[in-house]
Amino acid sequence: MSKKIAIIGGGNLGTAIAEGLIQSGFVLPKHIIITKRNVSTLHQLERKGVLVSDDNNEAVRFADVIILAVKPFQVDDIIFKLKDSLQPGKHILVSVITGVTTEHILKIAGKKIAIVRAMPNTAIAIQESMTCVSYKDAGKEDLEYVQELFSQLGRVTVIEEKLMDAATVLGACGTAYAMRYIRANIQGGIEIGFDAATANLIAAQTVKGAAELLLKKGTHPEQEIDKVTTPKGCTIAGLNEMEHQGFSSSLIKGIMASYEKIAKD
Ligand SMILES: NC(=O)c1ccc[n+]([C@@H]2O[C@H](COP(=O)([O-])OP(=O)(O)OC[C@H]3O[C@@H](n4cnc5c(N)ncnc54)[C@H](OP(=O)(O)O)[C@@H]3O)[C@@H](O)[C@H]2O)c1
Repeated sequence: MSKKIAIIGGGNLGTAIAEGLIQSGFVLPKHIIITKRNVSTLHQLERKGVLVSDDNNEAVRFADVIILAVKPFQVDDIIFKLKDSLQPGKHILVSVITGVTTEHILKIAGKKIAIVRAMPNTAIAIQESMTCVSYKDAGKEDLEYVQELFSQLGRVTVIEEKLMDAATVLGACGTAYAMRYIRANIQGGIEIGFDAATANLIAAQTVKGAAELLLKKGTHPEQEIDKVTTPKGCTIAGLNEMEHQGFSSSLIKGIMASYEKIAKD
């Protein structure tokens, strides 16, 4: 029998998760309840058969799995008010909240609830997220269920919780880095003759194809680069010029800057 899911926080991420789970057929719409204070923005999901509420306790009592998708500063108050409804042995808590540890949530709950932390990215809206998950006090079955849930919404990997900040940088900020890379390609593409729309299409599909080569063939980027670089050719000339200008180095420094910022805040 499929588990019932409560999504606490029907914002960007919460609604994207609900949409993706319904579209994949992983759960029936009537087995999802989604909450927020102002429910008027949830009509579209309601029309699909999802239950909508502004009462988090009602949602938790209904569900087996509780996905917390509120802003970090809202979580303490929400968990505190849910204390009495949370049942160890029944509920699995799944937190997608950035920067809040499982230990912190369990301390406020004051109960030993199975908890999984997940870090998806914005491509979850089209079921193409990279989601990193870590777990605490969750059994094998619970973890497998959560992995199955997020695999409906893209790819999933299990990591240690201490790597969650790193996952935020590489997986979630990574979407923005990739967008900048694509934007730079569009700018270059226009300079060598394409209109903006055509440059956008060529740049985005080329990046998608390059990523798919790695994911589907399991190759290393350098193996794929070797296939494109003819001796004395235009690809290697361009690549080497990019490296002389600090291409790889600037990306690595950017990743480190994001990571240091997360660690400091
Ligand atoms: N967006 C992403 O791709 C992404 C990726 C990874 C992690 N995250 C994390 O996911 C969390 C949500 O992000 P988001 O972008 O979806 O934020 P968001 O759009 O602001 O959604 C948060 C939602 O929580 C609702 N809310 C506030 N107080 C509530 C309460 N007491 N009970 C129930 N719902 C309440 C808000 O609606 P009302 O004001 O109507 O209550 C709002 O719709 C954040 O912690 C973020 O760091 C996001």
